[in-house]
Amino acid sequence: LRQIKVKEDDFGLMTYDPGYTNTASCKSSITYIDGEKGVLEYRGFPIETLAENSSFTEVAYLLLNGQLPTSDELSVWRDDINHHTVVHENIKRQMESFRYDAHPMGMMISTVAALSTFYPEAKNVQDPENRKLQIQRLIAKVPTIAAFTFRHSQGHPYIYPNNKLSYSKNFLNMMFRMIGNDYEPNEALVKALDILFILHADHEQNCSTSVMRAIGSSEADPYSAWAGAAAALYGPLHGGANEAVLRMLTEIGHVKNVPEYVSRCKNGELRLMGFGHRVYKNYDPRARIIKKCADDVFEVTGRNPLLDVALELEKIALEDEYFVKRKLYPNVDFYSGLIYQAIGLPVSLFPVMFAIPRTVGWLAQWAEMMTDKDQRIQRPRQVYLGERNLDFVPISDR
Ligand code: ACO
Repeated sequence: LRQIKVKEDDFGLMTYDPGYTNTASCKSSITYIDGEKGVLEYRGFPIETLAENSSFTEVAYLLLNGQLPTSDELSVWRDDINHHTVVHENIKRQMESFRYDAHPMGMMISTVAALSTFYPEAKNVQDPENRKLQIQRLIAKVPTIAAFTFRHSQGHPYIYPNNKLSYSKNFLNMMFRMIGNDYEPNEALVKALDILFILHADHEQNCSTSVMRAIGSSEADPYSAWAGAAAALYGPLHGGANEAVLRMLTEIGHVKNVPEYVSRCKNGELRLMGFGHRVYKNYDPRARIIKKCADDVFEVTGRNPLLDVALELEKIALEDEYFVKRKLYPNVDFYSGLIYQAIGLPVSLFPVMFAIPRTVGWLAQWAEMMTDKDQRIQRPRQVYLGERNLDFVPISDR
């Protein structure tokens, strides 16, 4: 607390908490994190249990509805999503106008924002049925648009969704099928991708989710709010970190170069990307699951040599006083990029791979906020340090 009311006309007391390290912006029943113990739960279920037993679509239902679906409910939910997987042909044409080397995340953000112009009724955010419809549309269309960004970068024709396939399998199919060939996504890779989607689905009030809630609090439509949230995710300190990790591992190149790189991080010259977390002061439970998942993927794709660099980095950092003292452990992004690369995805697509599942978390948090009667437009205050009541000097006299 900073006391700023020292004279009669001062404002009074308010919290001064840069980066909101100790400020709860809302009440929520969706995701629980114990950063000291390294615990993550969705709606009360440990993330390890969900990653082992659930599918991404089931977890999406859980996050949005607060309970696991029965098999009938899950089947209806899958049909609801499948109903909306195709995008309007003009969306496709709009995407074709991007430069050949446009960053996929830039294409993603602007294309999803453009969806609001195709569904103008989305602005009726107070109507629960309308909210439900837009949620289904977004969850269904985001993977289609994501795959189109990849096909666009490759110069390959877009592959339309195949609703007979699961959510993750359909995505891989839209990414990698070539016209005229019988591409069949490998089941081990489908499973790994589904687990990665589960792990990234929600993480309470992180930077991008806070943006989703902030934009949503002004009652903007969810497509525009999604675009804002995705823009926040794009930064290298948040969802762009998996891209930064892969670039870092590639730059280090070999295990023998690891100690020198770690020294540069300790000097403050660089950050060890994929390390550290605002909330986790312990091993990120998602990183532990992903590390195991990597072994299953590499069995199919062959071992990525950068994995050895990553393992050596982790070993050295976890024994180094600098990292131990600051409680810096691998986070979710440290190993995810290696899996994405093994699956055949370019580094620039990694933040998009984060945005696909996080769409569910953003929407669950948005929907929760819309029914919270305590919720008001988000409007933080500031501690003003500038001058006041200055005399205006005409430009000719300055
Ligand atoms: N490498 C080296 N030093 C680090 C790192 C790192 N990755 N992360 C934090 N530190 C150091 C800081 O320099 C600081 O040291 P100091 O006390 O001597 O000044 C101390 O640890 C605390 O760091 P802050 O920046 O204050 O921690 P904050 O909670 O604000 O930042 C963040 C968290 C942004 C995740 C940070 O750890 C970081 O930049 N990590 C690398 C990027 C990354 O992996 N981001 C993904 C996060 S997970 C996600 O978004 C899904």
